[in-house]
Amino acid sequence: MLEHLINSVNDEAAVIVPLRKSHLETWLAEQPSRVAQWVSGNRFKADAGRTLALPDENGRPATILLGLGEDDDLWAFAGLPSKLPQGGYRLVSGLAPEMASRAAFGWAMGTYRFTRFKSNGGHDFPSLLWPENADRAWVERTAAATALVRDLINTPASHMGPEELAETARSLANRHNARCRIIQGEELLHENWPAVHAVGRASPRAPRLIDLRWGAPEAPKVTIVGKGVCFDTGGLDLKGAASMKLMKKDMGGAAHALGLAQMIMSADLPVRLRVLIPAVENSVSGSAFRPGDVIKTRKGMTVEIGNTDAEGRLILADALYEADQEKPEMLLDFATLTGAARSALGVELPAMFSNNDALANDFLAAGEREGDPLWRMPLWRSYRRMLDSKVADINNVSDSPYAGAIVAGLFLQEFVSDETPWAHVDMMAWNTSSRPGRPDGGEAMTLRAAYSLIAGRFQK
Ligand code: BES
Ligand code: MN
Ligand code: MN
Repeated sequence: MLEHLINSVNDEAAVIVPLRKSHLETWLAEQPSRVAQWVSGNRFKADAGRTLALPDENGRPATILLGLGEDDDLWAFAGLPSKLPQGGYRLVSGLAPEMASRAAFGWAMGTYRFTRFKSNGGHDFPSLLWPENADRAWVERTAAATALVRDLINTPASHMGPEELAETARSLANRHNARCRIIQGEELLHENWPAVHAVGRASPRAPRLIDLRWGAPEAPKVTIVGKGVCFDTGGLDLKGAASMKLMKKDMGGAAHALGLAQMIMSADLPVRLRVLIPAVENSVSGSAFRPGDVIKTRKGMTVEIGNTDAEGRLILADALYEADQEKPEMLLDFATLTGAARSALGVELPAMFSNNDALANDFLAAGEREGDPLWRMPLWRSYRRMLDSKVADINNVSDSPYAGAIVAGLFLQEFVSDETPWAHVDMMAWNTSSRPGRPDGGEAMTLRAAYSLIAGRFQK
C-alpha cells in the first residue's frame, strides 16, 4: 500500500492537477486555449473523482486533471490508482499541505486490498511521488492504522479468535515498548471479570481480557475500550443466517482500539494510554450463558440476561468499569454494538454518545475536520426504565423494539461515572458496497476523527 508512494519519478511522469469545481474556470483562464477546448470538449466539470488526461505536444498524456467536486473530497484521490495506467505520477507543485497529505493518503487507500487468502494476491498499481508538502508521518501512520483495522475485521473468525486478537495486541505492544497483560479463561473469574467470562465461556477458544499500557505515568490518561467479539452467533438466542453472516466483524471496536493505539504510540503523543479489550467468542454450547440467567459484573451490579445476543454491552461493562476506576481524562469506547444504530443512521454514519458536551463537540469537530463523520445521539435518561429488571439490578435488553442504540448506550453509562469524560461510538465498521479507496468489507470509521481529537487535546 505505502509502497505505491515513492521517492523519485522520472521527468516523463504525468502531473496530476486536482481541481475543485469552483476553481475550474480560474484555472482554465490561465491555460492555453487548446486546453480549455479539450476540457470543454470532454465535458470535464471537475465532478468528484472524474479524471481527464491532457496530451502534450507529442500526444502523451502529460497532465491528469482530477475533479474534487464541491468540497475537495479526500476520497477523490483514491480512485486514481485503479484508473490510471501503470507508471509514476506526481502532483502539481504548490498544493496546500493539507491537500497534499490527503492526496497521498487517498492514493494509499486506493491501493488497499485484503489479499491474505488469495493465492494470486499481487496487484499492480501505478505509483505516486510523495507530494512535497505532505505530512508524511501523518500519512504513513493513518494509512497503516486504517489498513490494520480493515485487515483485522476482514480476517475471518477461523483466523481471528480471542487468542489471535490478543496476540495482535501483544505484538503491537512489543513494537512500541508498551506493557500488555492478558487475562485468560478461568483466570477471568479469579480476577473479577465475570461478564467477560460469562459471555465467552461457551467457546473452546477461551475468552480474554487484554490490558495494554503505554506512556509516561504522569501524562494525562486516555483510555480506549473496544468490543472484541470475534464472532457473534447470538449465543442461545441465536441469530438468523442473514444477520449472522457478517459477524466476524463484531470485533471491529477492538480493531479500532488497536489502530488508534498504534497511531498514538507511533506519534508519541504525550498521553498515558491504556487499551482495554474484552475478547470473546459468543458461541453456543452446553456451557453457554442462558436467557434468564443472572450474571454479576465487575462493578458488582447484577444483570438479568434478557437476550444473549446483547453480549457486547456485557463485556464492555466490565472493561468500562475498570477503565473508570483510574479516572482517565478521556475515555473512548468503540463497538459494533447495535443493529438499531444502523436503523437510525445507516451504515456509513457512526452514532456517538457522550456524558460530556465539550468532549462530544470536540469529537464532532474532529470528524468534520478529517472528513470522518459521526453523529451524536442522546443518552436519554427517561429510557433508562426500559432496562429495569424484576430479578436483578438491570436487564441487558429492553422489551421495547424502539431506541435500541440509546438503550445500549444507557446500559454502558451505568458503568462510567459522570465525572469521567466518556464517548461511546456505535459503528458498522463495514462497507456494504465498494467506493474508491473503500472496498466492501472491514472499514475504519471515526479513527482519524478520534486521533485528531486526542492529538488536538493533548499535543502541545
Ligand atoms: N453485534 C450485534 C450488533 C450489530 C448487528 C452490529 C448488525 C452491526 C450490525 C450485537 O451484539 C447484537 O446482536 N445486538 C442486538 C441487540 C438486541 C438483542 C437487543 C441487535 O442489535 O439486534
Ligand atoms: Mn449480539
Ligand atoms: Mn455483537
